[in-house]
Amino acid sequence: LLALSPAGAQERFPERTVTVIVPFAAGGPTDVVARQLGEAMSRDLGVAVVAENVTGAGGTIGAQRVAQARPDGYTLLLGNVGVATAPALYRRLPYDPLTAFDTVGLITPVPMTLIGRPDLPAATLPELVAWIRRTGAEVNLAHAGLGSASHLCATLFRSLLQVPVTAVAFRGTAPIMTEMMGGRVDLACDQTTNTVPYIRDGRVKVFAVTTPRRLAALPDVPTTAEGGMPGLLVTIWHGFYVPRGTPRPVVERLAQSLRAALADPAVVARFADLATTPEPPERATPEAHRALLDAEIARWRPVIAAAGEYAD
Ligand code: MLT
Repeated sequence: LLALSPAGAQERFPERTVTVIVPFAAGGPTDVVARQLGEAMSRDLGVAVVAENVTGAGGTIGAQRVAQARPDGYTLLLGNVGVATAPALYRRLPYDPLTAFDTVGLITPVPMTLIGRPDLPAATLPELVAWIRRTGAEVNLAHAGLGSASHLCATLFRSLLQVPVTAVAFRGTAPIMTEMMGGRVDLACDQTTNTVPYIRDGRVKVFAVTTPRRLAALPDVPTTAEGGMPGLLVTIWHGFYVPRGTPRPVVERLAQSLRAALADPAVVARFADLATTPEPPERATPEAHRALLDAEIARWRPVIAAAGEYAD
């Protein structure tokens, strides 16, 4: 009987496969991070840690799945800044991001890149801006749904351009790359964890990195400031969430495993190759993650209200 008690289950956690819900398409930036961490965490936890893609509505369908899962530590959400922008964007969100989750820890702050189809007739950010001004609303700018990281960057880019372009939504940024290489999508702003391999071998064009300084992994790519658009600065944060009410020792065990994974040399090397870094141990904690989530929800609400874009 003792073995079946909740306390016993917490002590033995984990006893079976842990599932990480990736709220965007397979092969994209969230998926890449989830699979990389999953391997390292599974070595630490001694059970399989698998990624499952539950896509749609800018990541809110996957988030809802986790909000409604059993609070036992076996179902995690890997969410990006979209967890914090969704409450301002969706009028009828079926969960409250402030109260639905317990935070586990921050994972990685990822820079973004402004990329375009390989035959786009512009080579630099100033040339791109001139081309957009000439072409107008026929230009399409893809993103992964309202509230996604790519949507946030696209919104900022559009507000700086002051020219209407056509926004197109996908279920993640992985499918955007296929469409872009085929010439059907003009532009996107996406995380380096997805774009670096495509940029390196010229499958897409790159116009700028959205960071104050150039990135070691992409040394030839100018910053947005160098390209004349200093306001386009975006770095995306990611964190692990579990349903609210997950026993504290289970959350702590997951956070400990996250920190072990972030210190794993294979993860550090892969992240560096993709132009990002693991969060330091003091940020891969439930407390640091909660503080950032609360601050980011408050920060984005007025920005999004000013942009005037909502989903029902
Ligand atoms: C993805 O994994 O496809 C992206 O993170 C989506 C996004 O832009 O947030």
